[in-house]
Amino acid sequence: MPKMNVPGDESVGIDDLSVYVPGLFLPLAGEFSTNRGIDPGKLVKGIGIERMAVPDAHEDAASMAAMSLLDLMRRTNLHPQDIGKIYVGTESAPDEAKALGTYVIGMLEQIYGKGSFQECSTVEFKAACIGTTFALESLSYWVAAEEEGKVGIVIASDVAKYPLASAGEYTQGAGSIALLVKKNPRLLALEQIYGSFTRDENDFFRPMGCTTAIVNGKHSNQCYLDAMRGAFDSYAAKSRRLEVITPEKGECVTDFVDHLLFHIPYPRMVEYASAAILRHDWKESRRSGEIERELGREPAAQDYDDIEKYRAAEADYARRFAKSEQFLQAYRAKVKDTATLSRQIGNIYTGSIYLGLASLLELQKIHAKERVCFGAYGSGCSALFFSAIAQPQAESVPLRGLLQRLEERKQISLQDYELLHEGKKKESVLPPKGEFALMGIDHQGYRHYEYVE
Ligand code: HMG
Repeated sequence: MPKMNVPGDESVGIDDLSVYVPGLFLPLAGEFSTNRGIDPGKLVKGIGIERMAVPDAHEDAASMAAMSLLDLMRRTNLHPQDIGKIYVGTESAPDEAKALGTYVIGMLEQIYGKGSFQECSTVEFKAACIGTTFALESLSYWVAAEEEGKVGIVIASDVAKYPLASAGEYTQGAGSIALLVKKNPRLLALEQIYGSFTRDENDFFRPMGCTTAIVNGKHSNQCYLDAMRGAFDSYAAKSRRLEVITPEKGECVTDFVDHLLFHIPYPRMVEYASAAILRHDWKESRRSGEIERELGREPAAQDYDDIEKYRAAEADYARRFAKSEQFLQAYRAKVKDTATLSRQIGNIYTGSIYLGLASLLELQKIHAKERVCFGAYGSGCSALFFSAIAQPQAESVPLRGLLQRLEERKQISLQDYELLHEGKKKESVLPPKGEFALMGIDHQGYRHYEYVE
């Protein structure tokens, strides 16, 4: 079987990215944890989030998307006529029919001139948190076939929202990420090997008319892990078949991976995901013997007459695996840093996995020729596992100063957070300045945005 699309002269991938995060945040330890009666240690360590980004009264998924794209265009000196398509991944769109990207184009034309984007098409991808990744996959094939030198943009934009005082509340967040997808990218060339997994599930969904998600929390964690294992197996089989990753006896697929980026609903989930995938992948490798010496034999279902006893033994083994030196070493080397920004922002749904990429870039952890694997997840549920190779110019792409920008945000009170959450705060906490703002919604429901100098 021939190798497929291994990055060469005409590789396609991510050239640059921009991140937009609202200027407001709520710390989880303090007023919030006291009011909700939750031990702050659970939020900061058990969940892994220190601060949640909170959108101000003038912000929504469309205004945040316009902000991340404007920043990307300015960073890369991109003009509207250079852009062929804008694909938007979102599950917080303000309209059931009109594409969010058309609002974004309307906003950007206030800067670049009316009609400047009229030859650019835009479509929305909805698949919970995996929407942006499906957008990236599709757009990469369009970019590969494009012959006029145009580039594509993928935008993730979401407000992650659960009911007040629910178990989902402390995993909220908000933000947008814009990715520049082009031929011969400076950052990451996609290997175009996608392993997928899909199953009908009720782990997390938002029926028409609901403003917050309905979530079966523990079940959602399990669905995420099952789907990720399925997508990983599919990726591993394809990459072997295509001879892109060719482990020898005793080796395994993740031995050929330098960074493992997972969808980050909250940082601890990345720990659970990496433990599940590495344990699974190591089973056939020389590491399995080393792990067995450290932890003893894995529980096997046939050794138990009671399924509950087997489940308890399995949960105990998984906990011990996640504390094993073997796992912790791999976790620190390949995974831990990906959650740096998420700890300060929370879940931004479909952009969360790319927030992981932004973390690695800001920490200057990605080096030329390294393989970066992505494990995307979207409730409902789907997972996609795919890979990219860091390009020689990856380290020379200017940083975005994200960690500093996060320090400059304004802390808000629990009362302001609750009013914003319930849509009862009409005045912005921070009046808009140098940004797109939602100015009003007219009697038909059409939204009016303006760039406020
Ligand atoms: P919960 O009941 O609040 O948390 O639910 P918990 O009781 O399971 O505790 C979490 C961890 O904190 C545990 O760690 C506790 O021990 C620890 P573990 O035992 O697993 O190692 N803990 C403490 N640690 C330190 N000090 C303490 C302490 N107390 C306890 N004092 C849950 C957590 C995430 C389920 C909930 O917040 C939730 O429902 N969130 C929303 C759903 C979600 O994020 N699911 C994730 C998977 S689904 C997904 O990723 C898709 C999604 O992004 C949406 C989409 O696709 O669009 C959500």
